[in-house]
Amino acid sequence: MSTPATARAAAPAAEKLRDLIKTNRATVGVIGLGYVGLPLAHALHQGGMPVLGFDIDRRKIDAIARKENYLKHLGDDMIKTLAESDRFEATTDFARLAEADVIIIAVPTPLGRHQEPDISYILNTAEAIGKTLRSGQLIILESTTYPGTTRDDMMPAIFKAAGDRAKSLQLGRDIFGAFSPEREDPGRKSHSTSTIPKLVGGLDEVSTELAASVYRKGVKEVVPVSSAEVAESAKLLENIFRCVNIAMVNELKTVLTPMGIDVWEVIRAASTKPFGFMPFYPGPGLGGHCIPIDPFYLTWKAKEVGKSTRFIELAGEINTAMPHYVVDRTAEALNERGKAIKGSKILVLGLAYKPDIDDVRESPSFELIEILKHKGAHVDYSDPHCPETWAGRKHDLQMKSVAITPESLKSYDCVLVSTNHAAFDWAMIAKHARLVVDSRDALRAFHREMEGRIQLA
Ligand SMILES: NC(=O)c1ccc[n+]([C@@H]2O[C@H](COP(=O)([O-])OP(=O)(O)OC[C@H]3O[C@@H](n4cnc5c(N)ncnc54)[C@H](O)[C@@H]3O)[C@@H](O)[C@H]2O)c1
Repeated sequence: MSTPATARAAAPAAEKLRDLIKTNRATVGVIGLGYVGLPLAHALHQGGMPVLGFDIDRRKIDAIARKENYLKHLGDDMIKTLAESDRFEATTDFARLAEADVIIIAVPTPLGRHQEPDISYILNTAEAIGKTLRSGQLIILESTTYPGTTRDDMMPAIFKAAGDRAKSLQLGRDIFGAFSPEREDPGRKSHSTSTIPKLVGGLDEVSTELAASVYRKGVKEVVPVSSAEVAESAKLLENIFRCVNIAMVNELKTVLTPMGIDVWEVIRAASTKPFGFMPFYPGPGLGGHCIPIDPFYLTWKAKEVGKSTRFIELAGEINTAMPHYVVDRTAEALNERGKAIKGSKILVLGLAYKPDIDDVRESPSFELIEILKHKGAHVDYSDPHCPETWAGRKHDLQMKSVAITPESLKSYDCVLVSTNHAAFDWAMIAKHARLVVDSRDALRAFHREMEGRIQLA
């Protein structure tokens, strides 16, 4: 494998691919039909491209065939549109990657047991791509990762798997590569895949240009940058920015609360400044597949150049400690009523890591429930979006969501708000709960009515 120093705009493979993209005849293979891959496949399909979806999870492919939505926040129409289209197919047959002119990878990038990047999903995918690699293919990585993955890990793995066929293929002339970060925010109504500006950084100029032209089919604004590494780093910056700022307000909460100062009111007050301030809100800890994980990809990579990432590590420390802080506040609230956590009946509201979605990955609710159980509480949870728990990276609670009624609320010593889903009947909770510990400021409107029964945490 070699990379040409200059762009080869006139290379026949690039010319052909450019034309296929322009005329909506380039088949786009999307690998990984999850939170990122499925809406992306839909956006490109809506832009007129033929799309071939790949996943190793047979259940997802079968669900699409049955027109069954497996990602509720996307609405039922998305899968239906794709399943009924003759320009879309979903398959587990990776030999069909040969049919794709453009291949977009949206597979998981978790952390290993020691907080190290686990790019094995990317490498497995790269191997599958390599097996059918042919001239004229553009491969774009979307999975969040450390700078250098596309050039130094993904591409070599693809060429290695291609074996002898790779000898005649040159990067930037026959094969093209780029990184384009996903900025999807499931549950956010104001933006979608097609309206969020898309950064694109290629391994060379031609790759950037080709990848940008693919995304322009389904995304309103495409922002080319000078390299894949810039695009990879920009994604990390976005998530580190959130992680560090959330840690900062979480720390502020633990400082202001014992002073009797309401941190949410402080944030609202500071937010009236029309410039130079952006509000972040405290909570019971960090959740989701991105913010608690991605920053540590840079922490790991930084060691390669002999640097440490102190902001990231401190933020991680503070955010990880938050469930313990919330449990301490719960213990204090119970103590004031002459009760201990041990033997108390506690209802945790919300299992998902943020409001109005069913994604429980890395959710702090799991940590809260485990700590409370460990301390001897009888814990239930209620979440209209998550009827039961399943085994995750760290937890296997084996619990089912309970329904909330005025009677059931009265039976708990404490209701602990972990996720502020709009679907919760907050008025009923405010009226009937004996004690609420609120880590999300969800019951602000009812504070007067709940005097003596509500504690912010
Ligand atoms: N979920 C988000 O909001 C979000 C936002 C921005 C970036 N990202 C990043 O996007 C990437 C994907 O995240 P996601 O949330 O879509 O994950 P996901 O778990 O929802 O989807 C990933 C899909 O890939 C499939 N898969 C795993 N290995 C595969 C393989 N070898 N071949 C084919 N399919 C395979 C899985 O079965 C799954 O369906 C991650 O790097 C994540 O950090 C996610």
